[in-house]
Amino acid sequence: MKRVYFLLAFSALGMNVYGQKTTDQRVAELLSKMTLEEKVGQMVQYSGFEYATGPQHSNSAAVLDEIKKGKVGSMLNVAGAEETRAFQKLAMQSRLKIPLLFGQDVIHGYRTTFPVNIGQAASWDLGMIEKSERIAATEASAYGIHWTFAPMVDIARDPRWGRVMEGPGEDTYLGTQIGLARIKGFQGKGLGSLDAVMACAKHFAAYGAAVGGRDYNSVDMSLRQLNETYLPPFKAASEAGVATFMNSFNDINGIPATANQYIQRNLLKGKWNYKGFVVSDWGSIGEMIPHGYAKDTAEAAEKAIQGGSDMDMESRVYMAELPKLVKEGKVDTKLVDDAAGRILTKKFEMGLFDDPYRFSNEKRQKEQVNNQENRKFGREFGSKSIVLLKNKDNILPLSKTVKTVALIGPFGKETVSNHGFWSVAFKDDTQRIVSQFDGIKNQLDKNSTLLYAKGCNVDDQDKTMFAEAVETARKADVVIMTLGEGHAMSGEAKSRSTIGFSGVQEELLKEIAKTGKPIVLMINAGRPLIFNWAADHIPAIVYTWWLGTEAGNSIADILFGTVNPGGKLPMTFPRTEGQIPVYYNHYNTGRPAKNNTDRNYVSAYIDLDNDPKFPFGFGLSYTEFTYSDLVLSSENLKGDQKLNISVTVSNTGKYDGEEVVQLYIRDLFGKVVRPVKELKGFKKIFIKKGETKKVEFTLTPENLKFFDDELNFDWEAGEFDIMVGTNSQNVQTKRVNWVK
Ligand code: GLC
Repeated sequence: MKRVYFLLAFSALGMNVYGQKTTDQRVAELLSKMTLEEKVGQMVQYSGFEYATGPQHSNSAAVLDEIKKGKVGSMLNVAGAEETRAFQKLAMQSRLKIPLLFGQDVIHGYRTTFPVNIGQAASWDLGMIEKSERIAATEASAYGIHWTFAPMVDIARDPRWGRVMEGPGEDTYLGTQIGLARIKGFQGKGLGSLDAVMACAKHFAAYGAAVGGRDYNSVDMSLRQLNETYLPPFKAASEAGVATFMNSFNDINGIPATANQYIQRNLLKGKWNYKGFVVSDWGSIGEMIPHGYAKDTAEAAEKAIQGGSDMDMESRVYMAELPKLVKEGKVDTKLVDDAAGRILTKKFEMGLFDDPYRFSNEKRQKEQVNNQENRKFGREFGSKSIVLLKNKDNILPLSKTVKTVALIGPFGKETVSNHGFWSVAFKDDTQRIVSQFDGIKNQLDKNSTLLYAKGCNVDDQDKTMFAEAVETARKADVVIMTLGEGHAMSGEAKSRSTIGFSGVQEELLKEIAKTGKPIVLMINAGRPLIFNWAADHIPAIVYTWWLGTEAGNSIADILFGTVNPGGKLPMTFPRTEGQIPVYYNHYNTGRPAKNNTDRNYVSAYIDLDNDPKFPFGFGLSYTEFTYSDLVLSSENLKGDQKLNISVTVSNTGKYDGEEVVQLYIRDLFGKVVRPVKELKGFKKIFIKKGETKKVEFTLTPENLKFFDDELNFDWEAGEFDIMVGTNSQNVQTKRVNWVK
């Protein structure tokens, strides 16, 4: 009994069992000493000057001065042991010596870069995704970074939106699992570990649903759709303890996310009881003026803090306006205490009050400059992200002793392009990044010849290099074409109205095809592209995204069969832009098309086949996987019973390989219409050639829940189709009846 009183006494004093002050106690004590300006200062974030990732103000001298006065809480785009130490020293000159947080966009690797995130999603390999973020966190924290603005968990169904490249694709379940793996990787053993960084779930919310796929555009949808499709990855991130959130540029149903009380107060900090802090996206607080939601910066600041935005990234509105608003009684000082308190809590958890320089360590940084272990992982992760879309007559894998190979296309000798968008560029990248040419050369037999012709530029009408490319192709036994979109044609502010190969690339391909040489096409992109002619005429196609530091080696591993491709598309590939949005988990409508060509009085286009060019979850292998014996533990279930599902998968081909076995359901009738398919599970398995494996899943009523038109989240009794297969179109189905 004494122990209980002892504990109670300590907790009353805000102490833990070891008699140390709890973080809450330390935060409360510090807040009690802070002036209003110092509290608001914690809510201010400026960008460093070298890697600005948005429209930047120029007055760097003023920023340094404000840091010394304790009027800045965080800097982004300041990196490196030396530079972070220098900035931290300025903060230590402030009255209360409150350390800065250093944030940066560590989106798909840091010193070692990995596939762009949509490519990583194509691996469906949660273990590799988590490990890649563990490596990224280790490298970034060694460079003095405390906080990454990742994972981006925006579900997106429109490939015209350039930022699909950094997201998890179109599916809520897959996107949620990937977001959780990333957070676990980034935060590792927990905040305060020297190799852990604070993660940031972004962009809150529904940024990927911008009208027309045009970046920063409005989002307008039912709260039901918002809760059903776009919010689950964020709710899961909150429950998983993600350190921070970043809100989004877009308005949601007429209210900018930055000031949107429904998502930031009612849900995030209310119902979800989130204790971390929310940073605005670059300048988005001030952008409420062009949004037409605030008439001036004072109103913008007032609405943003009321709306739940804790830190102001680079709009410079909070410091200018909040102290005045509090003094005028327009903003309750409690809101400032809450916001500053949330931010200070993270600084304590990161151990920065104990040692503000603990992450700024030149020795740790040096160890991460060109970590060979990390590169080796990057090479493996790259090949696991590649999707084999076509392999007619098994032209792939190529033999390493092919006499003459021609690599043709504008990306063949590129190095930095393989980073894709959202990579911090380092001066030695051109030496470190393995080009496609070098990767292929590394694996070709020494008696073989590798020819190269650029053929055309990425995005212009210049055909003067065609002749040389055709000549080069004629000399080869096999041609590898490397086409797509430029690495900086996807990413932020990179929406495209047409998403085919840019420039004259397709014309080049047609000219090379006229030579009659066998062609393998590699497609480099940060999003689904449209390439119908190639898909119909070229025998072998691999989707290589942008794969990072080890790109060339990852690609060669697939082309020469060192690795058997196992990637699956995380987004549907449309036939035309006119078909967008097209996604697998659509509703059936009252007049569903019955097949790919049925167009009469059904929901279809009169001028286009109904199916997408490649469906969600699609990807081939060099081997064959055969599915059989879909077995359910019962076809009649009641209440909280579990449904056990098993399927037999056999590798009936000539290569060992990995297969992503996908589990979908269909709720046949509901108080709101339900999708024709919903991904509810997947397992990536390795099966040796000639072997067979049984794959098992379990479903409970929890997996059947959905939001109805009154936003109740529950499941309904009824019939469900249970589907298992190799992609969202090719499944085996059995039906169950589940009563409450
Ligand atoms: C950008 C992006 C956001 C990024 C931030 C900092 O505008 O929208 O994803 O984290 O600014 O670079």
